[in-house]
Amino acid sequence: MKSEILIEEEKIRKRVEELAAQLDKDYDGKSPVLVGVLKGSFIFLADLVRKMKTPHQVDFLTVASYDGGVKSTGVVRLVSDLSINIEGRHVLVVEDIVDTGLTTDYILKNLGTRNPASLEFVTLLDKRICRKADVPIKYAGFEIPDQFVIGYGLDYNQYYRNLPHVARL
Ligand code: IMP
Repeated sequence: MKSEILIEEEKIRKRVEELAAQLDKDYDGKSPVLVGVLKGSFIFLADLVRKMKTPHQVDFLTVASYDGGVKSTGVVRLVSDLSINIEGRHVLVVEDIVDTGLTTDYILKNLGTRNPASLEFVTLLDKRICRKADVPIKYAGFEIPDQFVIGYGLDYNQYYRNLPHVARL
């Protein structure tokens, strides 16, 4: 499979540091819960939390919207839920990529019913041009064009998540 580097490892590292610094500022004294959306966010989340100084907790949920291909099915399923109660907590959902926004919209509605003190989203990649649902993404690493990308947690058929950079297929 041929791929071409879109975002270099070093550029990702710098941007993750900037995001962590911004989050430290915004969440100072708030003890947030960072919710990683599996599987794609696991590398971004791991790098982000190691740059953050604000005390926080980490939890995960798993959603599925792709059937292993390169197009979202548009139907979002909750595959596994959080393990902690987020009522009254400042929740920051950590995503790998926001494409149509349907997954984010589903998470927003689902977690929103649990009465968090606040609910915000940080995504490494933003394919803003592909939006079908108007979702409020407060923090985004990079805006990218409408191309299928792999690496740094993102997969094609569950492969390539280990690439240190983001590449287009
Ligand atoms: P959305 O619901 O269309 O915003 O898609 C969100 C999910 O689709 C992401 O969390 C990814 O798992 C997956 N996804 C969207 N675009 C890409 C891509 O370019 N590469 C790999 N996965 C993607």
